[in-house]
Amino acid sequence: MIITIDGPAGSGKSTVAKLLAERLKVRFLDTGAMYRAIALAVLRSAVDESDHDAVAKISGTVQIRFDGTKLILNGEDVSSEIRSPDVTAVSSIIASNPHVRNRLVALQREIGLQGSMVTEGRDQGTVVFPDAEHKFFVTANLEARARRRQRELAQKGVQQPVSSVMEQLRQRDERDETRAYAPMKPAEHATIVDTSELSIGEVVELLVRRILGDSTAAK
Ligand code: DC
Repeated sequence: MIITIDGPAGSGKSTVAKLLAERLKVRFLDTGAMYRAIALAVLRSAVDESDHDAVAKISGTVQIRFDGTKLILNGEDVSSEIRSPDVTAVSSIIASNPHVRNRLVALQREIGLQGSMVTEGRDQGTVVFPDAEHKFFVTANLEARARRRQRELAQKGVQQPVSSVMEQLRQRDERDETRAYAPMKPAEHATIVDTSELSIGEVVELLVRRILGDSTAAK
């Protein structure tokens, strides 16, 4: 069984996807981490992130795999490094490159062939797994997302005014939603969940009910 969870940054979808996978005892795939790994390789190479051909070359040669929840880039654990603000900014730029997307879509489908999972990203229900059994689009209003992101940053010792976090999220949403290739949008028949006023626990319960209810109904 494949369950897709797409949606913008700060919607809570990563936490929800992880908890849902634990509840259902299936694997969890963080596809954003894969885009981040390529962004890190680009940053380290000193290639300009908007140079499509050079970025395509890098994405075609790097090795990306997961070891449990660790992201391994060319044999090195880069799980912490891919969360830096520089990597965050570059990842949404290189994500518009069709070569990068094709490479990662193929990898994600290979991982999907290994069994049931909850997979989280921007295009999982629309492009990568259009036949997934359950599809969700998890979102929240910009202010709620910015406040959550601000709290996460503060926990890492980074203080930023909510207005600047909002502006960064808005720019990233715009890039993710307007790119020509696999833009972020709800898949057809996806259940849209607005988490602005809900706790993580409430969202997980809602998804579990939907999935178990759906599979009971299908029997
Ligand atoms: O979910 P995240 O913040 O870790 O994702 C980082 C960037 O990668 C995000 O700006 C958009 C891109 N991305 C994508 O285009 N498609 C995905 N399936 C996952 C992430």
